[in-house]
Amino acid sequence: MRVVRRRCVASSFSAESAERIIVALDGMSPDQASVFSAQVNGLRWVKVGLELFVQAGPGVVAQLRDQGLRVFLDLKFHDIPATMAGACRRAAALGAELITVHACAGSEALQAAQAAAIEGAQSAGLATPTLLAVTVLTSWEEQRLQRELAIEQGIDERVPALAQLSATAGIGGCVCSPLEAAALRAHHPEPFALVTPGIRPKGSEVGDQARVMGPAEAISAGASQLVIGRPITKAEDPSVAFAACCEELSLGSC
Ligand code: C5P
Repeated sequence: MRVVRRRCVASSFSAESAERIIVALDGMSPDQASVFSAQVNGLRWVKVGLELFVQAGPGVVAQLRDQGLRVFLDLKFHDIPATMAGACRRAAALGAELITVHACAGSEALQAAQAAAIEGAQSAGLATPTLLAVTVLTSWEEQRLQRELAIEQGIDERVPALAQLSATAGIGGCVCSPLEAAALRAHHPEPFALVTPGIRPKGSEVGDQARVMGPAEAISAGASQLVIGRPITKAEDPSVAFAACCEELSLGSC
């Protein structure tokens, strides 16, 4: 299925704001993802997660890129170094521009993944993607992490430690809670990417996200890009909801 997306016409937000927002295509079939992406005026970035990727296969990345979109491939790779490298090489060659890996795979695996992503992109004649390390999933509570995995470090120590491990291994950024962004940014200046889910624009439901921030607040705290799902995908008019998020950022000129 090939859907050509609508051009952004009389939008009241800047291209710079649109570049900062990544819409998570959670729960969509490949066709729904195409139709949705084509409907949202000015949309630049989409996030393909495990569910859509497992259903659609790697072709979904090409499909979305053909629609003029930039793709964040959020498969959170965590394996031995050779396997992490192979996965990142393939993901980069598909044209994914942001790719997630787990920081706790360790420095050898992270270095191998980063080197392989560079090779994969080069072999396909594409720009090098940014690898993003996941530190501690926000679904973990500290006590459960300690009890189930025997990890004594608190989350507020573990997140910066894993971010530092990732940065030292040459990884280009982290996925983090917006509440962690300011502390991480203090140690990792741009161009280190800080991509934050858990964003709730004014007037939207918090739902199952425990610790949330508004779009402008998260950018001020140091986030480079925001992942927003349901506040846009489940909105009555996703185009209006996307525009409202961009307008809240009010970056650059219209
Ligand atoms: O719908 P919502 O805006 O809550 O979607 C947020 C997206 O970010 C989902 O794809 C979710 O899986 C992802 N995510 C998250 N928290 C993390 C990591 C990823 O909400 N710590």
